[in-house]
Amino acid sequence: MPDIAKLQIGDNSYEFPLVKGSENEVAIDIKTLRGATNGMITIDPGYKNTGSCKSAITFLDGEKGILRYRGYAIEDLAEKADFLEVAYALIFGDLPTKEQLEKFHADIKSNSIVDEDVKKIIDAFPKNAHPMGVLSSLTSALVAFNPSSVNVDSEEEMYNAIVKIMGKFPVLVAWAMRKKQGLPLNYGSKSLGYVANIMKMMFEQPNEEYVANPVIKDALNKLLILHADHEQNCSTSTVRIVGSSHAGLFASLSAGISALWGPLHGGANQAVLEMLEAIKEDGGDTKKYMAKAKDKNDPFRLMGFGHRVYKNFDPRATIIKVAAHEVLQDLGIEDPILDIARGLEQEALNDPYFVDRKLYPNVDFYSGIIYRAMGIPVEMFTVMFALGRLPGWIAQWKEMRENKEPIGRPRQIYTGENSRDFVTAENR
Ligand code: ACO
Repeated sequence: MPDIAKLQIGDNSYEFPLVKGSENEVAIDIKTLRGATNGMITIDPGYKNTGSCKSAITFLDGEKGILRYRGYAIEDLAEKADFLEVAYALIFGDLPTKEQLEKFHADIKSNSIVDEDVKKIIDAFPKNAHPMGVLSSLTSALVAFNPSSVNVDSEEEMYNAIVKIMGKFPVLVAWAMRKKQGLPLNYGSKSLGYVANIMKMMFEQPNEEYVANPVIKDALNKLLILHADHEQNCSTSTVRIVGSSHAGLFASLSAGISALWGPLHGGANQAVLEMLEAIKEDGGDTKKYMAKAKDKNDPFRLMGFGHRVYKNFDPRATIIKVAAHEVLQDLGIEDPILDIARGLEQEALNDPYFVDRKLYPNVDFYSGIIYRAMGIPVEMFTVMFALGRLPGWIAQWKEMRENKEPIGRPRQIYTGENSRDFVTAENR
């Protein structure tokens, strides 16, 4: 492999160094391009060919369907780890020792009380407000309740901010759901593990003791792990770019939640379920919807299919498909929605349109089915994704600040009007 790239523009030739990652991915380092070429830039809408940073957190190979956090295979983590261990590894670099994990968990628990005044903010939202909007606002509001900005050069301050948000975020998630359901805004219990505590906060009824179903707890643990990081996706890039202006951690996370909300990103899990419901209501004719998805004059897309980087299979979808089956079997749920999902998957896997474009089911094709079986309302699905993604966002924000990355500020090619004279209103 050469170590420089040459660019020829007219009679001028320029050289740029190649940068190699630890998995042999290669990038052309164009930092000097603008200066050397008298103002030329690259243009790459959607950043399909643009690396925004160097990162040591998550590796994925979209062609081979590989996903690893800090070098650990997603399959191993989903099978053997607790979400909190994975969160620790993402944020601090290695799986924790027993002592590190205990301390991390204890510190999170002692930070899991949210100021009572936050309840007044929740009360001000209409009941039909989308919980992603509520969560983004509440995360931003946490800044007002915790105003001191983090000195990123202090390991202790960074750690304190991390355990604070890891403790409070699940409370906000549970409250966003309970507000919609008219349930009292409760707290968890310090005696429970991180995931069991989330379940208690979300599902506990005011008149009975909550006991978590172990199959559901295991599936939720898996789902949170599978969603915990995914390198420089839309919401993570948002968190990094907002944080690059030295905006605080909570403010950056709030922006990430908004980015995740969209149906082309985290909002896809809600969109998948709504699509499957609509197909069921319409008689369950999957072929009709396959045809719509392929029709270029129809804006309909098969939600839960395709991925910007996975062009063979999404390894998270492989794991989650099995988990969905286990949960439905254990709970004895016969869900016609699942039959429709299986039908669509089979048809798409054998259809040249989908095969040629390498469109396969992504993680969100099956996650909604599990959330539904757990009794989580459809509008909360993307919130559950955010709950899983929290440690990834934190890790990426922390890395960006520790690497002292410059403020994110892309350029553009201007295509508007050239200079023109101002004309007063009466003369227009
Ligand atoms: N249904 C039908 N056709 C599709 C779909 C789909 N779900 N996805 C892509 N295509 C087609 C496009 O129309 C395009 O066809 P063309 O080449 O004939 O013009 C081709 O496949 C490539 O599509 P792009 O939009 O260019 O692919 P891109 O990488 O930009 O988009 C994305 C990826 C946004 C995920 C897209 O596949 C999509 O919209 N999928 C549905 C939404 C979804 O499930 N999002 C969740 C992503 S996973 C996550 O965020 C956790």
